[in-house]
Amino acid sequence: MILAVTMNPSVDISYAVDRFKFDDVNRVETVRKTAGGKGLNVARVIAQMEEEVLSTGVLGGTIGDYIVQELNKSNIPNDFLKIKNESRNCIAIIHEGMQTEILESGPTLSKEEGTAFLEKFECLLTTASLVTISGSLPKGLPTHYYRKMVEISRNKGKPVIVDSSGESLKQVLIHEKKPFAIKPNTAELSQLLDFEAEAGIIDLKQMLNHEIFKGIVVSMGDKGALVRHWDDYYQVTIPKIDVVNPVGSGDATVAGLAVALNRNQTVESVLKTAMTTGMLNTMEAVTGFININKYKQYFDLVKVEKID
Ligand SMILES: Nc1ncnc2c1ncn2[C@@H]1O[C@H](COP(=O)(O)OP(=O)(O)OP(=O)(O)O)[C@@H](O)[C@H]1O
Ligand SMILES: [Mg+2]
Repeated sequence: MILAVTMNPSVDISYAVDRFKFDDVNRVETVRKTAGGKGLNVARVIAQMEEEVLSTGVLGGTIGDYIVQELNKSNIPNDFLKIKNESRNCIAIIHEGMQTEILESGPTLSKEEGTAFLEKFECLLTTASLVTISGSLPKGLPTHYYRKMVEISRNKGKPVIVDSSGESLKQVLIHEKKPFAIKPNTAELSQLLDFEAEAGIIDLKQMLNHEIFKGIVVSMGDKGALVRHWDDYYQVTIPKIDVVNPVGSGDATVAGLAVALNRNQTVESVLKTAMTTGMLNTMEAVTGFININKYKQYFDLVKVEKID
C-alpha cells in the first residue's frame, strides 16, 4: 500500500462568472467544490492506476468532514488525524479568461497535534510499502517536520517521495537520511539553489551534481524532466500534446513515480510511467484525474536518454 500524505488539505471552490465586479455583489450560478490538496491528487491518480493507496494527513471541522465525504465517494481509503481547528477553503474565481485565487493559509496545529500525527504516521507505516509527502506544511509545525517524517519512514525501511518546496524541502535534503526522491519543478529547484529558472539542461545538470541530491526528478512541464538517480543522469522527453488543464500534473507525476517504484519497474520504465501520468493529467479538465485507457499509447512516446 502507498501512503499518500497531505498535511494541509482544502475544499477547492471554483466560481465561474462572466464578469468579475469589484466593490459590488457577484452572484454565482456555476459552483464546483472538490476535495483539494496536492496529496489528495496523488492518492486519486494512484487509485486510478489500480494500486492500493491510503490517504492521510490532518483535517478538522465541517470542511474536514466534507473532504472525508468526498474521498469516500470516490472510494479513496483514508485515515486522517482530526484536529481542533477547521480545514481551509481555497477559492478560484474564473472570469474573463482569467483566474483570481483566494487561498486561505489554513488551520494552525498545536504542538500536541503535531506529535499525535507523527505517532499516527508511524502506525500507518506498518502496512505501507512506500510514502509520498506533498504540499505545504500547516502553520504551527516546525520546518523540519517533513524531515522527521522521512527519518521515521527510513528507520522502518520505507522509501519516501517528497514534493514540497522552500524551507521544508531544504530541511529534508540537508539531513543525512534523505528521501528516496524529490520532485521539484524548475521554479522550485531554482528557489532551492538560488539560480535563474531559465537555465538550460547543461546548467541544470551541473546543479544536480550537488551532494544534497541523490534521487531527484526535476519536472519541466512540456519539456519533460531531468533526473538524477545516484550517479546516473537522464533526460526524459515527451511528445507534444493538447493540454486542457495542467494544474496538478506534478502531483500525477508523483503518483506515477510511486506506483512504478512500488511495482519494482526499471529506472527507464519508472520515468516513463511518471511522465505519462503527468501528461494524461494535463489532457483532462479535472485536476488529479487521468484517462487510463490512453496510458499505453502515451507511455510508448516517452523517451528516456542517459546523459553524461
Ligand atoms: N504543457 C505540457 N505538455 C505536456 N506535458 C506536460 C505539460 N505540463 C506538464 N506536463 C507533464 O506533467 C509533468 C509535471 O508537470 P510540471 O513540471 O508542470 O509539474 P508542477 O509544476 O509540479 O505541476 P503542479 O504543481 O501543478 O502539479 C511534466 O514533466 C510532463 O510530463
Ligand atoms: Mg508541483
